Amino acid sequence: MKYTAIVLAAGKGSRMNSKIHKQFLELEGFPLVYYALRTFERSRVDEIILVTGENELDYCRTQIVEKYQFQKVSRIVPGGSERYLSVYQGLCAVKDTDFVLIHDGARPFVTEQIIERTIQAAIAYGSGIAAVPAKDTVKLVDEQQFSADTPPRDQVWMMQTPQVFAYEKIRKAYEIVISQKIKNVTDDAMVLETALHEKVKIVEGSYRNMKVTTPEDLEVAEVFVKQLEN
Ligand code: CTP
Ligand code: MG
Repeated sequence: MKYTAIVLAAGKGSRMNSKIHKQFLELEGFPLVYYALRTFERSRVDEIILVTGENELDYCRTQIVEKYQFQKVSRIVPGGSERYLSVYQGLCAVKDTDFVLIHDGARPFVTEQIIERTIQAAIAYGSGIAAVPAKDTVKLVDEQQFSADTPPRDQVWMMQTPQVFAYEKIRKAYEIVISQKIKNVTDDAMVLETALHEKVKIVEGSYRNMKVTTPEDLEVAEVFVKQLEN
């Protein structure tokens, strides 16, 4: 079996409000995306495709992949204007593999255990999605911002990455979503659900496997990263 990770780092980080794209902000001396790459490098994946901005390809090659000698990064490819388009670019850069692990480069605290759990689920069920139970009650709201519905909290989980899929299947699902111009797909699992009407298998991620999205997340990440290095 062959496993390929697609690490996404082509976003603009608009909610972070910083000049430097958030995936390249320095945490304890290393760019944020370095941490996820390092964990995948140490994991059992065979190959890593790094997806980044057109203008960041050189920086990623020289200042990250070559500098830290990531052996498994086989290609660095330009992404698209939306996350799902970046994923699709990554999928198109993959050469014969059995499973793909799609991961947000903005999640530095993924662990080898989480990678293993998602892979095991994908082997057994065709997909494995890291997620955690919601801590807060979630409400659906209407256009006037009045409550519309409250899903039972014990059935609400927050989706993370890695999201692992059989390669041919997720590629086909993405092709359907792109050719039919289906909008508002916010994670890879939703692509499979929408395009192929299939369920995905949810496995335990970790509350530490946060996505660094806003400035306060960066403060938390600073604390976590110090623990990681000790
Ligand atoms: N991403 C990407 N290509 C895009 C948009 C996002 O590769 N066109 C990546 C980001 O770099 C990040 C991950 O997808 O690693 C999750 O996206 P998100 O947290 O939304 O990052 P941004 O889109 O960069 O941030 P924002 O939505 O605040 O602009
Ligand atoms: Mg975004």
